[in-house]
Amino acid sequence: MAAIEAPEVQLPADGELIGEAPSSPAGPIDAAEAASLPEPPMIQLPRFMQVLRFNQRQIEFVFKARRELGEVFRMRGMVRGGPGGGPVITSHPDHVRSLFTAKPELAPSLTGESPLRPIVGPNAVLTATGPRHMRQRKLLLPAFHGEAIERYMQMINEAAEREISSWPRGRPIALAPRMQAITLDVIMAGIFGIEGKPAGNTPEGRLRAATRASLAVSTWPIAQLAELMNIGHDEPRGLTKVGMSALDVATYAVISERRGAQDLDERNDILSMLLQARTEDGEALSDKELRDELLTLVLAGHETTANSLAWIWERLVRTPAAYDALREAVRSDTGAEEMIEATIYEGMRSRPVIPMIGRRVTVPWRLGEYAVPADTPVAMSILLVHHREDLYPDPFAFKPERWIGHKPGTYEWIPFGGGIRRCLGASLAMAEQRVVLDQMVRRLDIEAVDPDPEHAVHRNVTMIPAQGARAIVRDRG
Ligand code: HEM
Repeated sequence: MAAIEAPEVQLPADGELIGEAPSSPAGPIDAAEAASLPEPPMIQLPRFMQVLRFNQRQIEFVFKARRELGEVFRMRGMVRGGPGGGPVITSHPDHVRSLFTAKPELAPSLTGESPLRPIVGPNAVLTATGPRHMRQRKLLLPAFHGEAIERYMQMINEAAEREISSWPRGRPIALAPRMQAITLDVIMAGIFGIEGKPAGNTPEGRLRAATRASLAVSTWPIAQLAELMNIGHDEPRGLTKVGMSALDVATYAVISERRGAQDLDERNDILSMLLQARTEDGEALSDKELRDELLTLVLAGHETTANSLAWIWERLVRTPAAYDALREAVRSDTGAEEMIEATIYEGMRSRPVIPMIGRRVTVPWRLGEYAVPADTPVAMSILLVHHREDLYPDPFAFKPERWIGHKPGTYEWIPFGGGIRRCLGASLAMAEQRVVLDQMVRRLDIEAVDPDPEHAVHRNVTMIPAQGARAIVRDRG
């Protein structure tokens, strides 16, 4: 990320900033065809070094590998490798399409094997595969539909208003934790049906505090060691286990309190909905299953959105042309919605908070000029797809104007993944980003503390701004 230069300030001709990739064959093939094609080239470093570099400096690692080996390559380590090593990493949209549209049993998600598994357990919608995944996903979908999001809009607006008013003016602050306060309130309200900030002495209040505390701890370098210790294990170990127990106590307390509520059928929060849900055999979810699901939503739902917003500001305050254009559109109410949308698209393109997602192919698979055998983990580098010269000319520049008149392509713009594993909270995350961005642009003038771009650091599966997007905010002049 250090190599990223300040973008040129110029408005190119329409269409120039969104392109196409040349087509590349991909998808399931038979064993004979697979045998006739070479396997992808391997990164030549010892496994330990690869895992370490991938964890510490994923950006440099994958860009270097693509420069040296091409758009499909293979690394050692990280997840169970299958025949021949660790995950194969691709960055071609046709390969992405083949994985997103495959029958679920041919390319199940890798999240069940990721560093998230020891945290949210093996049975949550995020980590389960097969029929169990589909059942959990169906159960949760209504809570994230457009209609449900409409109901959240006022609450999002209020959470944003409250928080923005409380920020100190005129001195450097990190925006990421401030954004997190907003997105945590939003997700807690959606999941638990709490309006506003829950009081500290309620089970919900204690859960909110425990969530914030565990996230703060996970930025410490020692937490990265805990992550490495957990690779390849199903259950939390060592430091992760210690960190999780406070969160668990708080979550179980909320579940137990809500089980006793008399008005479950009148409430439309997610916990009340899940408490009433029954499987085909008429069984209710156990406390453990509920805990896994709720924790997944709290963790997947707010840190990602907060950091996506933080990245957008990290980019905006260093790209005066983009910031001026947005401010002008929003404050004059001319094309405001379109500019906000374009800015979010570009922010999520250039700084995808989740830089990589994966599937395990269960049959031989073609990836362009290469083939991989059955049981190979195939990762899609969102970061590399989003920085292809052919798809996004001048890919390292932050140019929201790319998106004026253009909708993101399903396999070319993939910050929320895709197919049957596409992010459940995508509409909620987009709504939150629109509201918060709109309010901040209207109410505040924001400037960078340091003109140099912020580096990315990796936390669990996310990529976040190293300084938390430090900026100085002032009331609009
Ligand atoms: C900007 C914010 C967000 C980003 C960048 C993001 C990104 C992602 C990505 C990349 C995936 C994996 C998709 C795949 O493998 O194809 C995912 C899955 C998921 N996300 Fe999000 N997410 C965000 C916000 C949210 C929110 C607000 C929620 C919920 C409250 C949420 C809940 C989930 C869930 C439950 C899954 C698992 C879906 C499944 O496996 O079926 N996310 N997200």
